[in-house]
Amino acid sequence: MTIQHFLTLNDLPADELREIIDSAISLKNQLRNNTAGKPMSGKVLAMIFEKSSTRTRVSFEAGMAQLGGSALFLSPNDTQLGRGEPVADSARVISSMVDIVMVRTFAHSKIETFAEYSKVPVINALTDDYHPCQLLADMQTYVEKRGDIAGKTVAWVGDGNNMCHSYINAAAQFDFELRIACPSGFEPDAGLSQRHADRVSITQDPQQAVAGADLVVTDTWASMGQEEEKQQRIEQFKGFQVNHELMSLAASDALFMHCLPAYRGMEVSAELLEDEQISVVWDEAENRLHAQKALLLHLLKLSA
Ligand code: CP
Ligand code: NVA
Repeated sequence: MTIQHFLTLNDLPADELREIIDSAISLKNQLRNNTAGKPMSGKVLAMIFEKSSTRTRVSFEAGMAQLGGSALFLSPNDTQLGRGEPVADSARVISSMVDIVMVRTFAHSKIETFAEYSKVPVINALTDDYHPCQLLADMQTYVEKRGDIAGKTVAWVGDGNNMCHSYINAAAQFDFELRIACPSGFEPDAGLSQRHADRVSITQDPQQAVAGADLVVTDTWASMGQEEEKQQRIEQFKGFQVNHELMSLAASDALFMHCLPAYRGMEVSAELLEDEQISVVWDEAENRLHAQKALLLHLLKLSA
C-alpha cells in the first residue's frame, strides 16, 4: 500500500481536501456534543519541532489525545537529530515505532527526505516554503462563516512566504482567485506563481489587491529564521498593514484571517485584529485542532 504524505496541499486531490474540511466540521460538532469516539486508540504521532510553535503543537497533541491516541514531542535539543544524525536514518528509526509523523523544520527538502525514508505518513507542520495544515483550518473557517470559497476572491497582503505559497496551492485546489500584494523583492516563488497564472496575480499595491475581495489574509513580515531582518523589514513593508481603512475597499462581508502569531501595529492593526465582525483569527486558530484531526484520520484511513 502506498503511504500518503501531506507535504503540500498538492499531495491530495481536491475532492479529498474537501472531504477533510467536511470531516473537520463534523469532528468539531462531535467534540461540542460529547459524541466523539476514539478511533486513534493505540496510535502514536511523533511531532518533530525544529522551530517554535504554540498552535501547531497544542492542536496536534490535544487532537491525538481526543481521538484516543497519543503524541510525542521531539525537539532537536533532546534528540540525535539535533546532533547531526542524518534525516534519512532518523526517519527510518522513528517511523518504525510510530503510526504517523509531523515535522516542522526549515528547508522543505528536509521533510521531503524524511518522507522518502519514512514507513508511515508524514505531515508538513510548516517549512520555510509551505504551511498546508494552516490552509485546512483557513478553508474550514471560510466555509463555516461564508460557505463555499470556490469562485471567490482572496487577497494576500504582505510577504510572499510559506503561507503565501500555500495560498497559491489552495487557489488551485479550492478554486478561487488569489491577488497577492507584496513589496518589490518579497514576491512568492516565481515558478509557483507562474504555474498558477490563470488564477494568481501579483501587485505592489495592497489597495488594488483588496478591492472587492471576499477574504483578506496577512502574516508576519519576518518569519521564523528571519529574526535578524526584522527591523529592516518593518521599513520595507511600510504601507502593507491590513487595517480598517484597507478592509473598507474589500467586499462588504469580507473576512480577515491571520495564521498567528500576529504583530499588532505591524502587518495588522490592533483594532482590526480585535474586530470580531471582520476578523476570524480565533476561530481560525481553533480550527487547527479540528482540521488536523480530520487530516490524521484521513491519512491513516480511519473513520471518525
Ligand atoms: N499558525 C501557526 O502555525 O502557529 P504556531 O507557530 O504557534 O504553531
Ligand atoms: N510565516 C510564519 C508563519 C508562522 C506560523 C513563519 O514561518 O514564521
